[in-house]
Amino acid sequence: MVSQYDINEIDNEIKTWLQELNLRMPSLIEEMQTDTKKNRFDLVTNVDKMIESDFESFINKHYPTHKLYSEEAHQATLNLKEGYTWVMDPIDGTANLVKQQDDYCVILALFVDGAPTLSYIYDVPRQILYHAQKGKGAFINNKRLATVTSLPLSEAIISFNNKVLNDETMHELLKASFGYRLIGACGLDSARVFTGQFGAHIHTNAKPWDIAAQFLFAEELGLEMTNFDKQPIDFVTGGPYIISNPGCHEEILDILLADGGYKKEQLRLKTDLK
Ligand code: IPD
Ligand code: CA
Ligand code: CA
Repeated sequence: MVSQYDINEIDNEIKTWLQELNLRMPSLIEEMQTDTKKNRFDLVTNVDKMIESDFESFINKHYPTHKLYSEEAHQATLNLKEGYTWVMDPIDGTANLVKQQDDYCVILALFVDGAPTLSYIYDVPRQILYHAQKGKGAFINNKRLATVTSLPLSEAIISFNNKVLNDETMHELLKASFGYRLIGACGLDSARVFTGQFGAHIHTNAKPWDIAAQFLFAEELGLEMTNFDKQPIDFVTGGPYIISNPGCHEEILDILLADGGYKKEQLRLKTDLK
């Protein structure tokens, strides 16, 4: 398919749209109302919904042929690999937004005929924008990010949600790595891998919007982004996800899959989450 749009122009418009959030966010937070979804830890707010519907209006106005695939109200999966598709997490880290008013971000990615083409992770409280453009590199506040230096697991800080791994796998990972940190927003935990601060971020069941932007960052920065069988992840379905410095990817997967694997005892943990 021949591209009908100027990617640089889209990139500029999206950056402006994201910047406008700086002005809107304080009043949105002041009027924030919180609801639960699947369980008491699964939160959503009117801020998540308003950001998504605002972006929908923006797309309809400027790019009416583009599709939107997004967490709160746009989950239809038909023909997402044809033409221009935006994948969005309006707020990634909603629990952090509600409990701390910190450590949350907006995730946005444009796929053209299924190929990751533009990506954004906007750390709203810190006003840090990570963006990437296919073939042009990845940037932090418009400064180009260097490809990461290879890190063995013994030197790497890694992050994962400790509620969803069995105790044995978790302890093996802690033992083999330099250390553990978790921000609690998949976009921001992944961004630490882009900058080389973390060796890896692992999510055992990532939703498409949690990881939409990461495909292009991984491509542009030479990072590994796979499922736990070292296979590519489908951007429409998501699933088990690791983004990793190339120096520790294999070692982490070996630990995740050893001795019955990370899923052992998940039944008990699932019950705990209710
Ligand atoms: C959540 C965050 C969190 C991850 C959860 C996600 P949300 O996204 O990315 O880090 O562990 O699985 O659901 O719900 O705040 O958009
Ligand atoms: Ca999310
Ligand atoms: Ca979300």
